[in-house]
Amino acid sequence: MSRRPIIAGNWKMNKGIKEANELIESLKPLVKDATAECVFCPPFIDLPDAVRLTKDTNIEIGAQNMHWEEAGAFTGEIAGEMLKAIGVKFVIIGHSERREYFNETDETVNKKTIKALKLGLKPITCCGETLEQRESGKAKDIVVNQIKNGLKDIDDITAVVIAYEPIWAIGTGKTASNAEANEACGWVRETIGEMYGPEAAEGVRIQYGGSVKPGNVVALMEEPNIDGALVGGASLTADFAKIVKFDAQA
Ligand code: 13P
Repeated sequence: MSRRPIIAGNWKMNKGIKEANELIESLKPLVKDATAECVFCPPFIDLPDAVRLTKDTNIEIGAQNMHWEEAGAFTGEIAGEMLKAIGVKFVIIGHSERREYFNETDETVNKKTIKALKLGLKPITCCGETLEQRESGKAKDIVVNQIKNGLKDIDDITAVVIAYEPIWAIGTGKTASNAEANEACGWVRETIGEMYGPEAAEGVRIQYGGSVKPGNVVALMEEPNIDGALVGGASLTADFAKIVKFDAQA
């Protein structure tokens, strides 16, 4: 089974409506011939315009979080139903920054991922270890546990995109080596195989994230277990097109 590459930009808490719209307009012509699936995940407030501006293009829009409940007294939260209603297609779930600063756990990641799938939103569910965990030889255990707990009881695991993002490589300019990134994506694939069988392991798409740039994406994408990238800082300028079109770079 061949897996279509998927490159997603996680804008994090960057760009208000005007700047977001400008970036989208500048990227539209630059990514239009990409063979990879191309997803932009701007802040919530930018989403309605982002969906409108990318209608009839090859760009899909994702949110950076959602709540698993449909409605209620959850101040500051956004329901998956609300995202679905405006035409959002993807949602990042359980990013390490959400886990670190907003108390997200494997349990909430699991609830959100299940709910997103139920609504027909495509989750980009994140995992990854800290530097301390890697240095003490615990990276594999951490990642395997995040997958076992965060992605249990899923009906169609191949509808989930899994992003492996080692926390020590996020925003630090320090990329995991290609071999390290591939090895960890392999732990994820192997675990999915144990949980859901060999076909699921073969079909599920796994992204690497952490200081991905135009200069390193090509080599990362050559690794057998890496099917795409979740890009932070380098998704905030028109240079992101070079990452999206890794396969078309001269
Ligand atoms: P950077 O690409 O800025 O390292 O961020 C990675 C990330 O966290 C994407 O979700």
